[in-house]
Amino acid sequence: MKRIFSGLQPSGVLTLGNYLGALRRWVELQESYDCLYCIVDMHAITMPLEPTALRENIYEVAATYMACGLDPSKSTLFIQSHVAAHAELGWMLGCKTPMGWLNRMTQFKDKAGKDKEKASLGLYGYPCLQAADILLYQTHLVPVGEDQKQHIELTRDIAQSVNSAYNASLFTLPEPLISEIGARIMSLRDGNKKMSKSDPSDFSRINLRDDTDLIVQKIKKARTDAEPLPDNFDQLADRPEARNLITIYASLQGQTPQKVCETFSGQLFSIFKPALTELVIEKLEPISHRINELLSDKGELARHLKKGAERAEELASPTLRNAQNIFGFVAR
Ligand code: AMP
Ligand code: TRP
Repeated sequence: MKRIFSGLQPSGVLTLGNYLGALRRWVELQESYDCLYCIVDMHAITMPLEPTALRENIYEVAATYMACGLDPSKSTLFIQSHVAAHAELGWMLGCKTPMGWLNRMTQFKDKAGKDKEKASLGLYGYPCLQAADILLYQTHLVPVGEDQKQHIELTRDIAQSVNSAYNASLFTLPEPLISEIGARIMSLRDGNKKMSKSDPSDFSRINLRDDTDLIVQKIKKARTDAEPLPDNFDQLADRPEARNLITIYASLQGQTPQKVCETFSGQLFSIFKPALTELVIEKLEPISHRINELLSDKGELARHLKKGAERAEELASPTLRNAQNIFGFVAR
């Protein structure tokens, strides 16, 4: 059975972008693949984050995974730092990755901002840790949003160069799996910016745990234009905000954006927005309700995560041993 690996950072509230770009797809995939879904806490410390917030976020991500439909009896759900092999292989791959490759990573440029001297070594080297996450499990497919494509391509480059440097087939080359619709959900305030949990404005995003009132307000205030909707999605090319809202609707409803345009053709946003609001609430309400239920028993969440870590460790250890041996380390 083909193997899947993906992960999410416990660095803040999860958004509709995470759901449509990643989580929703993960749930479908667990029916036909051997899936590992990780809470990448070691990635989350590459940016400033209070320890108490990190701890809460880890439980929240675990609860969100399960509330969205990831089932610990079908998928391996675990916390990255529970499996030491990630850090170990991450270091080894870092020693085999030219700085020139890391310099091209756009996420580092975005996250480091203007003052690169102040960015941490961890933030810079983070793609090597991500490569280790994926390569440890001989992963075939990595379901992610569009923004992660570059990191998966780098992972392939690292795998290929290590395999050929040691003339060994140490790592399987993974492929990114990116949905056609929903791979890039944009901010509600600016249709050219990604919807992100790190945007300073809460009104730029819909969080999976937002209550009904807040969802109503956020969609009401979402930036749009005064034009009616066209009957053809291609005509929205230079109307990024309108394009985004149609994409969200399509993605939640399981229709093509073209079909949604046909349904709402000629209508103004005063008609479309209430329909979108109703759909978002219908889909998110059960999830946020379930997240709250799951968070009320953290012991139970911890038990699932421990089991997941045990399985992940077993799967990771042959690859790590093999890599250590090939690199020339002496076995204990
Ligand atoms: P992150 O929130 O950066 O840890 O991302 C976790 C997963 O959600 C990754 O697969 C991202 O590609 C995906 N993701 C994050 N934001 C968006 C977005 N605005 N649209 C689509 N996918 C997203
Ligand atoms: N870097 C990813 C993000 O910011 C999270 C991540 C870490 C990941 N390790 C991974 C995603 C391995 C897929 C596979 O979204």
